[in-house]
Amino acid sequence: MLVSLARVASESGWVRPIVDGSDVLEIAGGRHPVVEKALAASGEGPFVPNDLSLDGQRRLLILTGPNMAGKSTAMRQAALITVLAQAGSFVPAARARIGVVDRLFTRVGAADDLARGQSTFMVEMAECARILNQATPRSLLVLDEVGRGTSTFDGLALAWAIAEQIHDVVTARTLFATHYHELCDLAAEKPRALNLTMSVSEVDGRVVFLRKIVPGAASRSYGIQVARLAGLPDAVLRRAREILANLEAQEPADHRHKQLPLFEAHKSAVEEALGQLDLSRMTPLEALNWLADQQKKLR
Ligand SMILES: Nc1ncnc2c1ncn2[C@@H]1O[C@H](COP(=O)(O)OP(=O)(O)OP(=O)(O)O)[C@@H](O)[C@H]1O
Ligand SMILES: [Mg+2]
Repeated sequence: MLVSLARVASESGWVRPIVDGSDVLEIAGGRHPVVEKALAASGEGPFVPNDLSLDGQRRLLILTGPNMAGKSTAMRQAALITVLAQAGSFVPAARARIGVVDRLFTRVGAADDLARGQSTFMVEMAECARILNQATPRSLLVLDEVGRGTSTFDGLALAWAIAEQIHDVVTARTLFATHYHELCDLAAEKPRALNLTMSVSEVDGRVVFLRKIVPGAASRSYGIQVARLAGLPDAVLRRAREILANLEAQEPADHRHKQLPLFEAHKSAVEEALGQLDLSRMTPLEALNWLADQQKKLR
């Protein structure tokens, strides 16, 4: 086993990681060893290395980005590098520092276990329950698209609540990929959450994957473009575009209405303004005028 690890390390340019007692997980130029090899074998261009950094202040990384952009690959390579490092191996990265992880939890993919009485969504939720109940602040969590096996609003609500619980209570280092772009609002509310996205560029309406993780949030999933790449019949794609346009046209009014309960934690404009007041520099009269202004706006 050791000879195998040594050999793959020397042939594939792996490096010796630092493994310590910190709560850091820092990977520079990380690669997914299997995807990298597969891309090289098929001649489909080079694997794009990525950086990832978690520590005491950065606990919950919310990763958004189009389908096929490389979210799952980036998360799994971080998990693989962690396992390899703790097993005593070199790792596929330019540099890595891994604060020891007590357990690695994953929730990925859509599988069912019909023989044991578990539907696809049941399996998904059972895995989430296990993570929320058993993970410690020392664990590493990889959650890939939680909440996809049910209706959109149920799924979004569950994904949101699970992410909050992880941030507030579990506090484990967490990589959380999602197509619910609404979840990016968590980063504004939660001190240890932040948004990362896979960069893409659009050329003549076609999406080009750059495979680089950058700060920020995605606004679209490009699902129909990816379905086209996958070979869905033209008629279906045309119809899907039509339906999408209709849905998007309806969205503003509907969306705001439906999202209200979910977004209660958001500050209203009044609360926002109130938070920014510098009371120590205001006279009582100014404060009273401000109050009157706000009241006027509400009427
Ligand atoms: N860093 C990378 N460099 C080069 N190719 C990559 C990289 N990451 C992913 N890919 C390629 O893109 C494919 C899709 O990646 P991945 O499954 O991670 O996308 P995703 O963002 O999770 O998509 P989805 O939202 O559909 O799950 C991989 O199978 C691989 O071929
Ligand atoms: Mg994925």
